[in-house]
Amino acid sequence: MCGIVAYLGKKAAQPILIEGLKRLEYRGYDSAGIALLGGGAIRIKKTGGRIASLEQILDEADPAETFGIGHTRWATHGRPNTVNAHPHADYTGKIAVVHNGIIENYGTLKTWLANEGATFTSETDTEIIAALIGYFYAKCAEDEAGILHGNQNKFEWSVQRALRELHGTFGLAIVCSDFPDLLIGAKKGSPLLLGLGENEYILASDAAAIVEHTTQAIYLADNEMVTISPEGFHTKTIDNITVTKDLQQIEFSLEQIELGGFSHHMLKEIFEQPRALATCMGGRIDPQNHRIKLGGIASYLRELTRTKRLILTGCGTAFHAALVGEFLFEQLARIPAETEYASEFRYRNPIIEDGTVVIAISQSGETLDTLAAVEEAKERGATVLGVVNVVGSAIARATDAGVYLHAGPEVGVASTKAFTAQVTVLTMLAIELGRRKHISSDQADGLTDELACVPEKVDVILEQSERIRNIAASNIDRDNWLFLGRGFNYPVALEGALKLKEISYIHAEGLPAAEMKHGPIALIVDGMPAVFIATAGPQYDKILGNIAEVRARGGTIIVVATEGDENIASVLGPTDHLITIPEAPEHLQPILTVVPLQLLAYHAAVLRGHDVDKPRNLAKSVTVE
Ligand code: M6R
Repeated sequence: MCGIVAYLGKKAAQPILIEGLKRLEYRGYDSAGIALLGGGAIRIKKTGGRIASLEQILDEADPAETFGIGHTRWATHGRPNTVNAHPHADYTGKIAVVHNGIIENYGTLKTWLANEGATFTSETDTEIIAALIGYFYAKCAEDEAGILHGNQNKFEWSVQRALRELHGTFGLAIVCSDFPDLLIGAKKGSPLLLGLGENEYILASDAAAIVEHTTQAIYLADNEMVTISPEGFHTKTIDNITVTKDLQQIEFSLEQIELGGFSHHMLKEIFEQPRALATCMGGRIDPQNHRIKLGGIASYLRELTRTKRLILTGCGTAFHAALVGEFLFEQLARIPAETEYASEFRYRNPIIEDGTVVIAISQSGETLDTLAAVEEAKERGATVLGVVNVVGSAIARATDAGVYLHAGPEVGVASTKAFTAQVTVLTMLAIELGRRKHISSDQADGLTDELACVPEKVDVILEQSERIRNIAASNIDRDNWLFLGRGFNYPVALEGALKLKEISYIHAEGLPAAEMKHGPIALIVDGMPAVFIATAGPQYDKILGNIAEVRARGGTIIVVATEGDENIASVLGPTDHLITIPEAPEHLQPILTVVPLQLLAYHAAVLRGHDVDKPRNLAKSVTVE
């Protein structure tokens, strides 16, 4: 939620900030701005709209301006317009700030600052940070000697002093016109890392804005700050205690976050799935002895085998992956499992008994609701494991141990390859626990071998992309869709509906197919698209019955069935549509059945003329509650 970038070096800052913001645009894209330092002043340019709109109001870059900060916003406090866009300056004009996060006590602070003479122009919580720093800066100037400590200047002191007053979350880049070559970054709850280039520093919310310049970075922890000048950088806590940070290698390349010939990141990521899944399983599945080794949680396997209860948690797509996990752990390992929305978890006074293990699932590793659930579960004594994509992210760090997805960066706001990789990780774990607890070795070996073949099968499904586009086209004027599945494919129905909603703005509902007759069947009118997942499995006959019920009421059937199913044609009419997936055991089907639904949503969104990678009102990671 919001992307921040700052540059201090020898090159013109403006193009570097703009390029960085474009790479962070998936984090928020409703307004943008930059501030450049030079000649003892801060020059702010900002606007409502996207980075492209910002570029239109910028003058040509000045090579002498080699220091600046930038921001791309996802609005929380205040409408997305120019006044509320970042950077925000304080009322004295000396301090400017870009911020990712939320300041919960901003109302109280605003009233207090106003009484002290501060004035405000925006409705944002961020302006309060700038004003607070400005307030302490002015105070420090009055009484410099009495306040400063040995290794501080008054800009730093004021920042530290202000940060201690803030409740909430922040990733911040802060500048002061009196210190034209000093950049300060600080973090609590929102990600922030510093890229160390040759004679240059790039501070950003995400490695995507850094990787073009350097692959060496340090990741700030909560309540840490960094001061950066041409002479070097210094990391400390916001209480002014020096901390030494390890240098880390950024693990992905520029190529991975570029479009590479695809029209959208989402489409690229859908098509990357065979490779992403192969990488996710690579080194974990041994084809010789069919064994699965999940190094990150190897030392927790005993505890997992003995656990009395598993709670899986996540939000949005990750929640749907968790639901598939619930089915897998119960079916294969007979471990009682339940799935909780991470956003609800900590507010329901959850019961965590001895021997409960919580598995938190997140692509970004920064979703605040999921992070809060992790913290709650830990506080109540659970062992908490993570299934996370972004290495070193907050959730990865907050959990006791975990398994990374290794799916590569996911840029499209609609999550696709992360879902299939999340389900793949949960499947690997469930098979291994099943082997120890419930299923025979032969069954476990068989499932492992089948799982290893899933990437090839995804490839086969992707070949139907054009056909799926045509199906989307023939139903594109329909404003209400149903997605229906049973058993393992029920979470996939939920995921299919979410995908369609979030990028094509078509209302869609996902349901267990049998639930339809308990109410939603009333929605069915002539031509209403109903997407059924009717693949081979124990509930196949039942779902054919559900298809017949919708057909009888005039609905248009779009069915995902197993290749070679000779029966399915008999329940379809001339205006209905068939998509097939290769044969697979029902436990593994969700990784396959979701792929046509991702494509259906993608094509529907493009046909409706929407910006697939930047759907309205959304951002890639949700770092607010
Ligand atoms: O990064 P996370 O996996 O924690 O994100 C959770 C959800 O916000 C995310 O899956 C969201 O629902 C996606 N936009 C769905 O496509």
